[in-house]
Amino acid sequence: MQRIKISTEGPEFSRIALGMWRSNEWKMSTAELLAFIEKSLEMGFTTFDHADIYGLYTCEAIFGNALAQNPSLRDKMEIVTKCGINLVSENRPENTFHSYNTSHKHIIKSTEKSLENLQTSYLDVLLIHRPDPLMDADEVAEALHHLHKSGKVKHFGVSNFTPFQFDLLQSRLNFPLVTNQVEISVLFMDTLHDGTLDQCQQKRISPMAWSPFGGGRIFTGNSEQEQRVRNELKKIGEELGGAAIDQVALAWLLKHPSKIIPVLGTGNIDRVRHAAGALDLELSRDQWFRIWSASAGNEVP
Ligand SMILES: NC(=O)c1ccc[n+]([C@@H]2O[C@H](COP(=O)([O-])OP(=O)(O)OC[C@H]3O[C@@H](n4cnc5c(N)ncnc54)[C@H](OP(=O)(O)O)[C@@H]3O)[C@@H](O)[C@H]2O)c1
Repeated sequence: MQRIKISTEGPEFSRIALGMWRSNEWKMSTAELLAFIEKSLEMGFTTFDHADIYGLYTCEAIFGNALAQNPSLRDKMEIVTKCGINLVSENRPENTFHSYNTSHKHIIKSTEKSLENLQTSYLDVLLIHRPDPLMDADEVAEALHHLHKSGKVKHFGVSNFTPFQFDLLQSRLNFPLVTNQVEISVLFMDTLHDGTLDQCQQKRISPMAWSPFGGGRIFTGNSEQEQRVRNELKKIGEELGGAAIDQVALAWLLKHPSKIIPVLGTGNIDRVRHAAGALDLELSRDQWFRIWSASAGNEVP
């Protein structure tokens, strides 16, 4: 598996990352999850994406328990996690309303809890999960500088930020943000056209693409768009010598010059292995734009 520096000052990620959002639904034992992690690492998938809230605040600890069975794996992987959303859950009785919280106090407390749950002493990357309308950029920067200085977090990024929101936070930091994790897929192209990916190229940072298969809709969705896209992915897969639609959908992301890191959501190790085949596919410009047109429902202007 290819590795790339996601920004000029690092860190280095696997070209495709694995997302842990659904991991509480996989119903794996600790030993099974450990085996999933070990096999992924053997194949070169080293970047694991988390958030404090996944599984109503349970997924980080599920992963941490597996990692604790073999702590030597920690330095062979990159751990990304997020903070800034408050969910109402019995696991956080202090949360009384679904809201955002990017206060200094919350960022520090949430990160320390993530470290404890993940059973690690440091995070490779911490992301602010969603743009918070009450975000005080100076206050966030102070929290991030503190976490950086303490060695608890090596790098920082954002998620679902507009370029303007990204620039605002960056303007208060004395180190560069390393990614913006946003939705990008053959079914969701807004971020291709709203300046998000242009900003990533400008700053030479790789965006991370969440829900690269539309949360599974490219396989099963029945809307007109989903059917059009699936048919086109199939046709192009045949033209490429029998590639499957998941591989073509990933190759479409990988072709983008901003060097998108797709974040897979599967808990099926065979699907992880299969996805790696996308790295061997080279779409032509025509094939890329045929998928774009199938998604948009029209040709480019
Ligand atoms: N920053 C954010 O705001 C944000 C938001 C959402 C997600 N994320 C991150 O992005 C990651 C990926 O999101 P996602 O889970 O929506 O990604 P996804 O890869 O688009 O969707 C995953 C779903 O597709 C199914 N699937 C995958 N490959 C398949 C195949 N070959 N055939 C049939 N079904 C298949 C999976 O089921 P199986 O498990 O059965 O394979 C799973 O239900 C998350 O884990 C999280 O880390 C971030």
